[in-house]
Amino acid sequence: MVRPILRILACTLLAAAAAGAASPVRILIAYHSRTGNTAKMAAAVREGAASVGDVEIVFRKVAEVTAEDIVKADGIVLGTPVEWGNLSAEAKGFLDRVGAALGKAGATYGEGRTAAVFCTAGSPSNGQEMERLYAIAAFLAMRFVVVGGVNQECFGSLGPQAVTAGKPPGVTDGERAEARRFGERFARLTRQLRPAVAR
Ligand SMILES: Cc1cc2nc3c(=O)[nH]c(=O)nc-3n(C[C@H](O)[C@H](O)[C@H](O)COP(=O)(O)O)c2cc1C
Repeated sequence: MVRPILRILACTLLAAAAAGAASPVRILIAYHSRTGNTAKMAAAVREGAASVGDVEIVFRKVAEVTAEDIVKADGIVLGTPVEWGNLSAEAKGFLDRVGAALGKAGATYGEGRTAAVFCTAGSPSNGQEMERLYAIAAFLAMRFVVVGGVNQECFGSLGPQAVTAGKPPGVTDGERAEARRFGERFARLTRQLRPAVAR
């Protein structure tokens, strides 16, 4: 009688230990910024993601991201300025490195991982949509699950954005708030996805 009880107790303790030892969800926020606008949005995304429990955030300029950062990430968020209607060359180079690092690590690329993009642009209608769609298409081609944002009118969006050449120039409080809400959403959905998939 005592033995089965001890066995059940041991199994329960082992299961609890395994659950407790599960590593936090790792989110890589990688951004490129020449004049500081996209960096401000990146900081707001980070704040939102940090509000979710059991999440570890790796926050880097794209040039500083290592292959290990990419391979270890459960979710990747890319921030970029719009340049000539598209990603900056530096942000595009980062996407190439994501593909290379994941391809080297295994055949399943971004399977079971989340990805997203946010941007800043000088004008309201000169490339933000194309630029985000380009990044989203690349992430989909790498088998990521793409997470969008929710805009101030409560519609889903391609990801947060800021228009920076207004008066006054720069990122507004409203745009920053949207980026924070997106960061929280991204972290929460990444955390929900991880146990549901085998990589
Ligand atoms: C080379 C270059 C090309 C740009 N092309 C565009 C463009 O096509 N559309 C747009 O709305 N803004 C464009 N901009 C403006 C930037 O997207 C905008 O100033 C952005 O907020 C800069 O972000 P950063 O401060 O993080 O560098 C361009 C800026 C540069 C330097």
